[in-house]
Amino acid sequence: MADYSGYAEEWHSNRKNKRSHSKEYIEKPAVYEAIGDIRDQDILVLGCGSGVECNELIEKGARQVHGIDSAKGLIDIAQKEYTRCTFSCEDIRTCTVQKDSFDMCIASLVMHYIPEWQETFSRVWQSLRPGGIFVMSLNHPVKFGADIVRGAEYSALLGYEKGKAGVRIYGDYLNKRKIHDVWLGGLEVEFYHQSISEILKEVLQSEFTLVSMSEPKPIVRAQREDPEFYEIHSKIPQFLILKLKK
Ligand SMILES: C[S@@+](CC[C@H](N)C(=O)[O-])C[C@H]1O[C@@H](n2cnc3c(N)ncnc32)[C@H](O)[C@@H]1O
Repeated sequence: MADYSGYAEEWHSNRKNKRSHSKEYIEKPAVYEAIGDIRDQDILVLGCGSGVECNELIEKGARQVHGIDSAKGLIDIAQKEYTRCTFSCEDIRTCTVQKDSFDMCIASLVMHYIPEWQETFSRVWQSLRPGGIFVMSLNHPVKFGADIVRGAEYSALLGYEKGKAGVRIYGDYLNKRKIHDVWLGGLEVEFYHQSISEILKEVLQSEFTLVSMSEPKPIVRAQREDPEFYEIHSKIPQFLILKLKK
């Protein structure tokens, strides 16, 4: 779990000013492609942060957007900035269910903060109208299964080297585990790594039908604006996008 409240202003400024290339060039375009035409749809957004994506959904034509996040600092910003949406400060595992109220639910980069998914899945299922769509974006397990070293230099290694001195293993893809990390120069986050088969097990345990799963590459614009990023992530995945249906 992470408490983004202490970093709410910085988080909001980064999101609003589109500073994350991973989000702007890969994750958000892939989520928006998965949800398709949202005109006149009622949308529930889990882990909505400071509400930037809720506002984008309204601008894309959604009729009504309700965002949920557990960080009070972020929800305070969202309520102040985006008055065309509604928000509540809740945990997505225990949040209030508004039965049969939404056509779509989006959980963008939040599910990996919770170890078990069924209580959230059950709430989303009840909140959606029949035929409703649930789109989740996750850190790709290949990325977070890797050994990540942050600092002046950055590395993310998954694999092994075998030589005369023995074997050196980098990362652990197959075993589910909690990862402790530090972002934004001080925001302590804990999230869960699990393999694609563990993720699919969670989905198959739920009542939802899996419609599609994708491992998106960067959009073409990234090639011009950040060629190195484009080259890396045209080969190494960052995100996994799942689309489920009620
Ligand atoms: C990586 S941010 C993503 C925010 C937003 N969806 C976006 O893409 O910009 C993850 C968000 O999930 C929220 N979060 C983490 N665990 C949560 C939980 N159990 N219930 C509700 N929100 C949670 C955090 O407070 C944070 O705002």
